[in-house]
Amino acid sequence: VAHPHASLPVAVFDSGVGGLTVLHECLVSLPHEDFTYFGDTARFPYGERSPVALRAFALELGELLLARGAKLLVVACNSATAAALPSLRVALEGRVRVIGVIAPESLLAAGVTRSGEVGLLATPATVASGAYERALATSAPEARLHAVACPELAPLIQAGGEVDDRLVDCVEGYCAPLRAAGVDTVILGCTHYPLVRPLIQRAMGRGVAIVSSGQAIADEVARELRLAGIERKVDRRGSYRFLCSGDPQAFRRVGVRFLQMPLGDVRRVAVAAAPPARAAA
Ligand code: DGL
Repeated sequence: VAHPHASLPVAVFDSGVGGLTVLHECLVSLPHEDFTYFGDTARFPYGERSPVALRAFALELGELLLARGAKLLVVACNSATAAALPSLRVALEGRVRVIGVIAPESLLAAGVTRSGEVGLLATPATVASGAYERALATSAPEARLHAVACPELAPLIQAGGEVDDRLVDCVEGYCAPLRAAGVDTVILGCTHYPLVRPLIQRAMGRGVAIVSSGQAIADEVARELRLAGIERKVDRRGSYRFLCSGDPQAFRRVGVRFLQMPLGDVRRVAVAAAPPARAAA
């Protein structure tokens, strides 16, 4: 197989700023690589959308990022991964490899849980897909998954408002059934949630392990580049840039706060129009 050229960036996409938690791990592990990040903010949130809509979005963004140059594609969104990873891999076969966020996280959770009672916080789309049940059944057949759909959480985080009582109440409310179930491990099944990890850890208590996918994805990116022989030399400092489909100023304002790194210039790229999320779900 012909591999994409090593000098191309790694492309990462999410519905909004959530994928920055994955990008950051990649920037730490692979400081010599270049990255392009796409936030589909015009069509946020993905968590209320149908699998058909999510597959169409993922294919569109895959093509869009490939056209701009990408040597590897990272779907840094659990909702899109749950609905679209297999079809995206088929559509881009032979052109670029695609990494998703669900399998590596389930593997981590399987290694961490002692009781086998594993909690999941995720968007309605991800919970409805059953993707974590399937992934966990493979990595820990004895474990039981307690899934909680959190329709309000990613939108509150994406809005980038104050960390106030509303956010705290929201997190406490979603964690309550997991506490009642006595889980010893909680999977953050949405890339937005690590941004409120301190709230989740306090709601669950110190004894509960919280698993997110950023580090595992960064490891997988490194492995894929190595296997394909398309790594950059480590003696350089990589660059990164941001694209979004909605308002670039709004993306920058929230993005810089969560990435805690300069964003540089954020470019707007048009995508196909979509009906309002709830109507499409
Ligand atoms: N970050 C996306 C995910 O991981 C969810 C946010 C959304 O609903 O768009 O599922």
